[in-house]
Amino acid sequence: MTISRRDALKLAAVGGAVGCGLGGNPLSAQTMSSDTAKPVGTAAANSLWGGRFGAGPSAIMQQINASIGVDKRLWRQDIAGSRAHVAMLARQGIVSAADADAIDKGLQQIAAEYEAGKLVENLALEDIHLHVETRLKDIIGPAAGRLHTARSRNDQVAVDFRLWVKAACAEADGALKALIAALLKRAEEHADTIMPGFTHLQVAQPVTLGHHLMAYVEMLGRDRSRFADAAARMDECPLGAAALAGTSFPIDRQMTAKALGFAGPTRNSLDSVSDRDFALEYLSATHMTGLHLSRLAEEIIIWASQPYGFITLPDAWSTGSSIMPQKRNPDAAELVRAKSGEFLAAFTRLSVVMKGLPLAYSKDMQDDKSTVFAAFDDLGLCLASMTGMVETITFNKAKMRAAANSGFSTATDLADWLVRVAGVPFREAHEITGKCVKAAEARGSDLNGLTDAELKAIDSRITKAVRDVLSVEASVASRTSFGGTAPANVRAAIAAARARL
Ligand code: ARG
Repeated sequence: MTISRRDALKLAAVGGAVGCGLGGNPLSAQTMSSDTAKPVGTAAANSLWGGRFGAGPSAIMQQINASIGVDKRLWRQDIAGSRAHVAMLARQGIVSAADADAIDKGLQQIAAEYEAGKLVENLALEDIHLHVETRLKDIIGPAAGRLHTARSRNDQVAVDFRLWVKAACAEADGALKALIAALLKRAEEHADTIMPGFTHLQVAQPVTLGHHLMAYVEMLGRDRSRFADAAARMDECPLGAAALAGTSFPIDRQMTAKALGFAGPTRNSLDSVSDRDFALEYLSATHMTGLHLSRLAEEIIIWASQPYGFITLPDAWSTGSSIMPQKRNPDAAELVRAKSGEFLAAFTRLSVVMKGLPLAYSKDMQDDKSTVFAAFDDLGLCLASMTGMVETITFNKAKMRAAANSGFSTATDLADWLVRVAGVPFREAHEITGKCVKAAEARGSDLNGLTDAELKAIDSRITKAVRDVLSVEASVASRTSFGGTAPANVRAAIAAARARL
């Protein structure tokens, strides 16, 4: 049986399926069980390059060199890459159809074994690539040796990791969408709910809770676009760059790129095997997302504290204290706040690994994966936790409204009224309003608590009509400028965001 171009293209589906298998995500079913770890030492020279070696590596060398404990998470991508490669080798007449067929069947068997948790880790076999190849040899014999024709582990790991990170971008997008949907739902419920808007964490002007939540929808929308942008840029297939210089075999890189679901092949073989920009861009987008999540986490923590009392977290998202029976702690939000710092650390770490590396591949680059995998796992946890909290928080409207009315939050409305109705220059209006605040403070009331006579005594241009703007409801309703907090604007912003989603 020959593997036709059409058969090879069917592998695109494999490449697509690969996209979902980010084994190891605590939220996915694909976590590789660690009890499959079984380090086996060997004194013999490595069978895959032992030709020019007299003796095997020292035990410590094996330990520092092996990456299987980490890169086993790439097994789906590795097998998909190999299937696409061998289909292409057959199509180009570089290996026989019979050998390609045996290799492909063997690879499918290995996939089934790994899916069943039967990957046996062996430090002597270093990484996932050598594990798969060695197992293939066990299954089909010497023909397995033809798979590595016109290929190197350098382009192999580059394509595996790109496929994985591309899928991770899609996964981040899905999780961000879920959080955005939760925020939109709560924003809609609270398009009219009044809360204090802060600057310097001092009450500034009343805003609507819906508007406040929609600020996070904006941030997370930008995060989505950063992941999408990174995914589009990494959509080029490095397979076929071989070790660093390309190959003398008549390979078809368009074919493998397409089979694996890439837009096309990378253009420079040296860059193909030495580039990890795609991983850095993923970490950078992760960091920005984490930064936003940490701000929301901080607000949840503050709002849940007793002096604020703006929100109550449900039992499912709170923890108690072993000594203080009354406690209800926002641990998940605190951990999101903490973990978001790790994303910057991950970006920094991989940047430092890559900085100053000469072209092309250096083994330093093997250390890219642990950093990215850890960030991926934490991002998944953080986004899922945030979504859970946002969906179930109880907003204490009375507390929020009372706080919005404190701190003379409608002072700007009074100043604006003097400008609009009495034609007072804003700077003068600011001065007059300051005097009103001082008078209200002295008598222990809010601005609305001053009598008409008291207001008139401060400035004769202030009339009864000013009462229309001194309430927090009137204040938010008047903020109708584009992007402002008025309930009508919030509803329009929610509709527009839903359309974008
Ligand atoms: N395990 C290696 C990595 O992840 C694969 C590439 C090894 N290449 C080499 N020339 N030693 O980077």
